[in-house]
Amino acid sequence: MTVTTPCASATAPPAETRLAAVPTAPRHIRTRPRKIDEAAGPLDHPVASGRYQSPLRYPGAKTGLADLIGRLVNSAKASPQVGRVDLLVEPFAGGASASLRLVGSGIVDRVLLADADPLVAAFWQVAADDTENLIDRMADEHARYIARGGSIALDRWDYWRQWKPSAGTSVTDARFEAAVKCLILNRTTFSGILHGKAGPIGGRRQQSKYDIGCRFNVAALAERLRYVGHLYQTRRLVDVWCKDWQKTLADVPEWYAQLIPDHVVAYLDPPYLAKSQKLYQRSFDAHGGYAAAPVSDLHWSNSLVHHRLAEYLRCKIRFRWILSYDADPSLLDDPGLYSASRMTPSAEDKNLLDVKEWALSKRLVSLRYTASAGKGRGPADELLITTFPPSTVPVDDFFRPVDSQ
Ligand SMILES: C[S@@+](CC[C@H](N)C(=O)[O-])C[C@H]1O[C@@H](n2cnc3c(N)ncnc32)[C@H](O)[C@@H]1O
Repeated sequence: MTVTTPCASATAPPAETRLAAVPTAPRHIRTRPRKIDEAAGPLDHPVASGRYQSPLRYPGAKTGLADLIGRLVNSAKASPQVGRVDLLVEPFAGGASASLRLVGSGIVDRVLLADADPLVAAFWQVAADDTENLIDRMADEHARYIARGGSIALDRWDYWRQWKPSAGTSVTDARFEAAVKCLILNRTTFSGILHGKAGPIGGRRQQSKYDIGCRFNVAALAERLRYVGHLYQTRRLVDVWCKDWQKTLADVPEWYAQLIPDHVVAYLDPPYLAKSQKLYQRSFDAHGGYAAAPVSDLHWSNSLVHHRLAEYLRCKIRFRWILSYDADPSLLDDPGLYSASRMTPSAEDKNLLDVKEWALSKRLVSLRYTASAGKGRGPADELLITTFPPSTVPVDDFFRPVDSQ
């Protein structure tokens, strides 16, 4: 028997209103949605088919998962219910490895990136629409500080760690500097962690053979940044939003109504059930070096947030979705998480908003991590849940069935 928790017709207000206090990333790049009925421009960039597309190193990056997600999407596209995927939305974008890979390989036509962290959102916004200036600034920072190593590089690392927009800075300038901060700290900090206590690569003494500049390959990064700019120029990256996930999921039907319900898919990669506090929580902590005010709703160490996301995905969302999580058994056992076998919208949301009762298909997949797997690299299981038509969701050595199904 399937146990479900009832779906409320109203959920708690998103935390996004509080993010408005942080001035570094405007809510969107664009003031209007991109036209989806216009063909996207030709994709002509060597990075599209390279090993890595993202300029960011991200704790929990899903580079290893992107090809499996691509298989899932391709298989769903072959079904009459789905047919095509015009837009992939990534509400927890981080390093956006899945989106950049899937749009580069032509599996999806367009992507929309969103993240609640203003540093991350500012980075993608500037990489998309001010690419060459960001590349020039990155090269300059590298030549003047990072490449010279030692105390010069550490002083600069400390400068960026402390940097906050000063009063009176224009939104455009603050956004640009936030993007530079994100890129520099991401490439020079242990595991790419942007906030909190993580130190510079090589430590304060810089005596390791891996020093602060070892992940800062200017030529390769410039190519990847140009790839992001190219995606934006060719209308394949439609926009970058600085929003809480719930606001992103609620706004997509407003901005891209013609794609609802089958031609838009969300790929959600939330902070892990375990360990997210260490990796991300500080990004929203007043004492963690960035946010001006605590945004406690975004503290993923609090399991309530995982339950709020699950409730929204089970009851409210108006388009197809794929979710990846660290394979924690409680995800499949807890009726407030994902023990249900199908979506259960309220009668009101079904009738008024046409929320579907799609089945939930669940699979275990293996991939390799760094930050999430604990010490060193090692295979880790990831749970994938999707509302794609069940007959399209593969079952094989890569997509192992979950016992409870
Ligand atoms: C697991 S990471 C995503 C990694 C990404 N899939 C990749 O391949 O690099 C989770 C991301 O969610 C973002 N995040 C945390 N809380 C959020 C919220 N409430 N709404 C939107 N994004 C959030 C974090 O800033 C982080 O970038």
